[in-house]
Amino acid sequence: MKRALRLDKQAIQRRFDRAADAYDTFSVVQRAMADRLVESVERDPLSILELGCGTGYLTALLRERFTDAAIDAVDFAPAMIARASERVPNVRFVVADIEELELEPEWYDLIVSSATFQWLAEPEQTIARLAGSLDRRGELHFTSFGPRTFWELDEVLGELGCERGLSLLPAEKWETLLAGAGLSRIRAHSYEERFSYPDCAAFLRSVKSSGAGYAPRVLAPGTLSEAMRRYDERFDDDAGVSATYEIVALSAER
Ligand SMILES: C[S@@+](CC[C@H](N)C(=O)[O-])C[C@H]1O[C@@H](n2cnc3c(N)ncnc32)[C@H](O)[C@@H]1O
Repeated sequence: MKRALRLDKQAIQRRFDRAADAYDTFSVVQRAMADRLVESVERDPLSILELGCGTGYLTALLRERFTDAAIDAVDFAPAMIARASERVPNVRFVVADIEELELEPEWYDLIVSSATFQWLAEPEQTIARLAGSLDRRGELHFTSFGPRTFWELDEVLGELGCERGLSLLPAEKWETLLAGAGLSRIRAHSYEERFSYPDCAAFLRSVKSSGAGYAPRVLAPGTLSEAMRRYDERFDDDAGVSATYEIVALSAER
């Protein structure tokens, strides 16, 4: 399965590389996702692979909790890996594309990833390869963003004839991919979080500063400012404007 929208991987990598310095300031949602993800692991793994480790927030949680485990952590943005390796000792950090990683078969007790799989270009193939690298009874746990994420922005941009810049898979689709890769004990759920920002401009700045880009890349002149005006008018709350994040959380076992 190829994604409906072609992802420009080099552009994504460059964006995250540039975002590495500011990432920790703006990644409030991502930290909450990582906290919940690490709590969802019930086993005591000895070999862990983390995918899309960013600046190493989840890596540090894994290092603290699973003191005896060997941890490999991967990200394709070198500046992210540089930050993560300053932050977390005793981890093997690798700069690589998740979808091109050479994986040992039946190797890991635990594969985790937080707030990253929305960027996969070939989720079906990638999930299948990861499943093959899980040891017997090994587990895969991940979080991603679901299609309701930033529905407010989609609404105003849609009225102006623009489609969103990223297609986000719902939890049920991920469930199907996990089952198709032969995994069992699949658990999936999604929940929504709403965050407030002073205005739409601050919201978009925050998203951009964390390396993400959900809006279309090419907009006709004036479209963005009109979208922002409509957003500020329609989605105001007591603290400014609100934005919804849909978080999907999945786990499965080999
Ligand atoms: C939103 S950040 C999440 C970082 C971290 N997991 C966290 O929760 O803070 C997504 C990370 O995934 C990385 N990433 C995205 N696609 C990737 C790919 N195909 N291969 C390797 N890393 C990737 C980005 O460079 C970025 O650091």
